[in-house]
Amino acid sequence: MSDITDSRFVREMREITSNMYRQGWDERNGGNISMMLDREEVSQFLDPDKIIRTIDTGFDAAPLAGKYFIVTGTGKYFKNVDRDPENNLGVLRIADDGKSAGLLWGYSDGGRPTSEFPAHMMSHISRLSVNPDNRVIMHSHPTYTLSMNFVHAADEREFTRSLWRMCTECMVVFPDGIGVLPWMLCGTNEIGEATAKKMLEYRLVVWWMHGIYGCGATMDEAFGLIETVEKAAQLYMLTAGLPRVNEISDDQLKEIAAGFGLEYKKGFLD
Ligand code: 13P
Ligand code: ZN
Repeated sequence: MSDITDSRFVREMREITSNMYRQGWDERNGGNISMMLDREEVSQFLDPDKIIRTIDTGFDAAPLAGKYFIVTGTGKYFKNVDRDPENNLGVLRIADDGKSAGLLWGYSDGGRPTSEFPAHMMSHISRLSVNPDNRVIMHSHPTYTLSMNFVHAADEREFTRSLWRMCTECMVVFPDGIGVLPWMLCGTNEIGEATAKKMLEYRLVVWWMHGIYGCGATMDEAFGLIETVEKAAQLYMLTAGLPRVNEISDDQLKEIAAGFGLEYKKGFLD
């Protein structure tokens, strides 16, 4: 059997966590990622039925029964994933009753999946119901997006609109807008359920004064969504408090929507 550390999925996790760490978005153990895997792909590197440890999920993950995921570990640092993937990552299969997950590989020091496992798995369920190709859920603490949470209204329409106005191509990247959750205690089933509800409607959800969730069919898609929000938030913060001499207007945003044929979030423009 081939070495799993050379697999496409471990390589992608190593590359993206290193990149996100270098962006300054994932201090210490901040952030977590889960990616759904095909049984066939897992089988090239592991016996897909050989469970080395069983981990309680603490919620009903039955809609994902039998599905495989690679997930960052709780308390693990993104900066360390590349040099020690077997300790910082785990490959799991959700059990038939959805109450536990079988560990197939990883968390080698006895670790567990991220404390945000409920938010990730519940969001996978939501996204798969609207896009069967979704594979990735990504959570991060990007600096400018978070900064903006302290100076901007916590309102989905206004927050989305402020970011659409910062870069011409923002609207092209996330025409569906950004969902906003008020500050809530993290690591709970409650925040998981609230996130998953937003994920039925949005591919981006901000946890106000905490961080952001993105999703996609690929690692690039999820990362690209968060990266674009963060770039716009950076421009917003770099110009905050300065006189606004120029601004992209709602009419210009409508021109972008027409030019690119975008189905943008209804009611988010005047
Ligand atoms: P974990 O270390 O459990 O993944 O938690 C990090 C985090 O960002 C919590 O929201
Ligand atoms: Zn977090």
